[in-house]
This record gives sequence, structure tokens and C-alpha cells, in this order.
Amino acid sequence: MSESTIESGLQEKRVFYPSAEFSSQAQVKSLDEYQQLYDRAQADPQTFWAELAEQELHWFQPWHTVLDWQPPFAQWFVGGQTNVSYNCLDRHLTTWRRNKAALIWEGEPGDSRTLTYAQLHREVCQFANALKQLGVGKGDVVGIYMPMIPEAAIAMLACARIGAPHSVVFGGFSAEAVRDRLADGKAKLVVTADGGWRKDAIVPLKTQVDRAIADGAVPTVENVLVVRRTGQDIDMQPGRDHWWHDLQPTVSADCPAEPMDSEDVLFVLYTSGSTGKPKGVVHTTAGYNLYAHMTTKWIFDLQDTDVYWCTADVGWITGHSYIVYGPLSNGATSVMYEGAPRPSNPGCFWDVVEKYGVTIFYTAPTAIRAFIKMGSDLPQARDLSSLRLLGTVGEPINPEAWMWYHTVIGKERCPIVDTWWQTETGGVMITPLPGATPTKPGSATRPLPGILADVVDLDGNSVPDNEGGYLVVRHPWPGMMRTVYGDPDRFRRTYWEHIPPKDGRYLYFAGDGARRDEDGYFWVMGRVDDVINVAGHRLGTMEIESALVSHPAVAEAAVVGRPDEVKGNEIVAFVTLESDQEPTEELAKALKKHVGQEIGAIARPGDIRFSDALPKTRSGKIMRRLLRSIASGQEVSGDTSTLEDRSVLDKLRGGA
Ligand code: WTA
Repeated sequence: MSESTIESGLQEKRVFYPSAEFSSQAQVKSLDEYQQLYDRAQADPQTFWAELAEQELHWFQPWHTVLDWQPPFAQWFVGGQTNVSYNCLDRHLTTWRRNKAALIWEGEPGDSRTLTYAQLHREVCQFANALKQLGVGKGDVVGIYMPMIPEAAIAMLACARIGAPHSVVFGGFSAEAVRDRLADGKAKLVVTADGGWRKDAIVPLKTQVDRAIADGAVPTVENVLVVRRTGQDIDMQPGRDHWWHDLQPTVSADCPAEPMDSEDVLFVLYTSGSTGKPKGVVHTTAGYNLYAHMTTKWIFDLQDTDVYWCTADVGWITGHSYIVYGPLSNGATSVMYEGAPRPSNPGCFWDVVEKYGVTIFYTAPTAIRAFIKMGSDLPQARDLSSLRLLGTVGEPINPEAWMWYHTVIGKERCPIVDTWWQTETGGVMITPLPGATPTKPGSATRPLPGILADVVDLDGNSVPDNEGGYLVVRHPWPGMMRTVYGDPDRFRRTYWEHIPPKDGRYLYFAGDGARRDEDGYFWVMGRVDDVINVAGHRLGTMEIESALVSHPAVAEAAVVGRPDEVKGNEIVAFVTLESDQEPTEELAKALKKHVGQEIGAIARPGDIRFSDALPKTRSGKIMRRLLRSIASGQEVSGDTSTLEDRSVLDKLRGGA
């Protein structure tokens, strides 16, 4: 990579070009080639996607309509039939890939396992037959609450195989959060494990499931399928709970993939928004499959020899699209890691890279910032020469972290793809293509072919270059979410009416602020709604506030984000107590713990500030803008004239 400077008038002027060697072998070799693809897609998106769908996926039956767009509801490849599990497995079995590693799993403590495409296919077929035996059929929702072990991917693919939509719940969520998600999805069966390893301790997953569904809280759940991982004793309820290792020898490995309609639901995945409970984002079969497939191929420039590692958890969309579906659909080797960097093993990521000769490495800016803190000695003591491409996802990356990644991990040799996208978009939307796009540290650069992204004002008009605005998408794309599970109105309101539709023109509202520079590069600035991104995880302020208020000591709570050097944001909660309560250190601790129990450790506030009152407008709305300034120790600026009681501000500033 070479470095040069362009006159842009921005703070960040560095530009990095892919090496000639990288570009010459890449899937997309130059900016011209990207531009041609982009122009072709823009001129005729339907033909663009239809050609790719025909080339890249297996179809049991061809579609008759590429796109049926009844804003804001889209259907892609209508009339067609395919199966995601078939595309990820069966079609590779008749090629040399049959005995290629599909999943390489590195577990804790020190376990490992490799599954070839043939082996993975066999296990998925058996798992699918076990699900069938337990009464799961097409259309039945299956909850998956698993550690990062191959069976998590196997369960997902088994669901896809028989047409049972899966609803994966991140293994770090609490029993309460699991209950809400299983109940909303009306799950018929739950796949879990006795436990999972997290930072040298066992997470008791099965026990959490027991709590989540106790006392008929989720009456639709008939069976629980349990994978043995950590081996401790757990309760197994006869008739309801079944060990996978007991069933596996009894089920056949023959399970043909069910032809699914393009628009049959593939999965539901819950994510946080500004209001209410997390919403179930619905993705369907063919469009999602195509989008995950194409984006993986383009962005990670997959070659047959690559060892590809995405460090996300399968409980998030990144794990769905870029550990399981995208890589396997392409016949790639995907590394899956159960561990996480921790004080007892801070170099573990670099050990995995060295052990398996990882060539493509995809992680979150939070992890990079944590590595910077741990020191460059750790990666420098490992052989990272196999790496050829690096990626980031989940939050804005600050230029300093980008430069460290580029220099210390990429040895100034590996292109970095900063990928902007969301649970709702199914796959990456804005990103460099590694052999084509010059990169600027901190910019996700340009939209992919077929993605008409824009930065607009609240009337939907494009704003001039370098002015801040709202990030939107102007045309449907195959990977877009189809609806909010069970609540199409919420889908319409949240994403399509924020900017009022005009003359049949609908804009997808992402909830992020952004600016576009004179080179057409996007700089994503972060959420513009009441969502906080903590360590790359999306959390709704309202969810955390509800959790706090559910504690008997709390009268009222307001939660805001404060910039944090490593996690991007830290959660700060302003809490007013019931009149009989004293603000103590113990109570603050208890409240943090309580939020952990209600939602999960990722939602635990870093800071609890007790206060007699919260700043409100005369109409009773909490003024978060003020709280954000106070939380980050800044001067309260802007208009405070609508504040009902100005003395509240002084008290808050003084601290509690
Ligand atoms: C943020 C994760 C800046 C953004 C895939 C978005 C990013 C939210 C980037 C979605 C990036 C994701 N640069 N911000 N490269 N990638 N985000 O649904 O605020 O967990 O709206 O999907 O993460 O989070 P989600």
C-alpha cells in the first residue's frame, strides 16, 4: 500500500491505495471496474441482481418476477424456489470442495474441531432430522441460544434446510431477554447447550433457558434440544428436554433440502431501536442468501485458498451473514472462535491467526482499540504473515485505531475494509472493495453496486458535500429486511416514514448520521436516535431505562452514552430514587447488576448518577441532549430555555 495526500480540506487527508499485486488478483480489480458495476446496477437494478441470482445460487424453480415493490414492502425473485442450506452445503459436495474445511472451530479451553463440507452436511442433515422428530416443521420458529460452537451453525443450517425460521439469541443475553424473544417469536423448540465458555468461566445457558420458559412463560415451547459442551450437571426435564448426543445416533443422515419459496422467512433476529422492546427483524430466503453471498465474495475477495475469520458471535447479524451464510454459500473456509481476549490470554486472537494461517480477518473497532491498549508486543510476537485482508464492522473506527490496524496487524500490506451496515440491511452496504477502492482512515468509502445510498435532510433532499445529514437508501436491495416480525406497521413507521414519503418515493432511514465528501466517500457519524452503540453492540436507551425502573428503589431513569476510548460509548444512567431510598455505592452496584440480569452484561451501565430530579421540558420530556453533555463533562451548550426547572441542571453538574 502506498500513502499519499489529497487536498480535501478535511481533518483526515491520508489515502491508501491497494497494492498492484493485490488488485491484479482481486475479484474487482480497479475503481473503474467498480464504477462500471455500480453504473450498470444503478441503471437497471433488477437485471443486475437477476443475473447474479442466476449465476450464483442454485434454484429448484426459477422466479417469474425479480422485484415486486409495494413500498415499503419488497419481494425478490417471486415464484422462485431455492434453499439456503442447499446453497451452503449440497452444491459444494459434487465439487472438489467436498473435502475442504468448511468450519474450523477453535474452542476453549484448547479444544478444536474441523468439519469439511461433507461432514458439515452430514451433521446438518442429522440435526434437521432430529428437529423433525421433535415435531418441528416448515414455518415453525426455533430459538437458538448457543455458545460459539459448531452446533450453533449446524442448528441454523438445519433450520434453513427444513424451512423452520430460526431466532438466534446472543448467548450473553439474560433469561429475561431470552423469554421476551422466544415469546415474541412463538418459538416451538429451543436449541441450547449445557453451558458455554466465556472468559474462563461457564455460562449456564440451559439453566437460563429453564428460567426463561418456567411457569409456562412461553407456552409455545414444546421441546428443548441440548448440546453437551461444558459437561456440568444440569436439570433435564423428562419429555421436554433432549440431549443432542442421545438423538444423533438414532436419526438418519438423509434429509433432502426442502424447496423454499424465495420469500419464505429464513430467520428473525431481534435488535434494539429507539422505542419499545427489541424488534424482530425478518429476513427471507433468496434475497438474503444472494446478498450475503455476493457481499462476502466482493468485499472479502474470496479465493479458494483463503482461511477466513470473522470474530463476531453468531448471535448477531455479523455472525449470521459473515460466519455462516455468506462464507459457506461461497464454499469458503470459515473460522469460528469460542474465546475472547481476556487478561489470562490477551494474545489469543493472534494465536488463532498464526495457528490456522488466517488470511482474512474481520473484527470490531472496539477489539482493535482494546488490542492497542494491550500493547503491540502481543501481535508482534506472532507470525501474522498469512494475513492479506483486514476488515472492521459495527461502529465507526477512529483514524488512530485504523492506522494501528494498518501498521501493526496489516504491516502496511493488507487493505482494510471498513464495512457499514445493520441487522436490517442483511449485509454490508457501504465499504471499500479491497482491490479497487482507495481507503481513507475512518471512512466506509462508497456504497456497493446496487446500493443507492444518500445523505439527506428531513425532507429527503440530498445535502451538499461535507454537510451532515441522515443516511438513507433510495432503492430496495435483495438483502433488506422485509418487516418487523408480527408488526408491519412498526416496520413502516420506523424505517420508511421518518422521512415522509413523497410522490411514491420511499427512503429507507438507517438511523445513522453521515456526511459525504467531495470524492463521494461516506463518513458515518453514529446513531441519531436513542440507540447507543457500546463496544459494537446496539442497545436502546429505553430498554435500559425500563430495566432500571423495574428495580423497586428507582423512581425514574434516563440513560445516555458517553464517549469511551475503548468501547466507543459507555452507558451513563441518571437515576432518581424513591423517597425512602438513599443513594449509596451499594445501591449503584445493585442497579448495575440488576440491568445485567434484566438484559445482559453488555447493557450494564458503566456509571450510575443519582439525582433529585431529571432535566425536563415543560411538557415533561427528558432533555437527553443536556444529560449527554453532563455525562461527558462538557459545557451544556445550546438552548436550555425550554427547561422546566433550571436548578436541576446546576445540581446535576455538581454531581450527586
Ligand atoms: C453502526 C452491525 C460506523 C451503525 C452490522 C449502525 C457502523 C449500527 C459501522 C448497526 C461502520 C455498523 N461504521 N458505524 N462501519 N457498522 N455501524 O444492527 O450505527 O448491530 O446503524 O449491525 O452499527 O448495528 P447492528
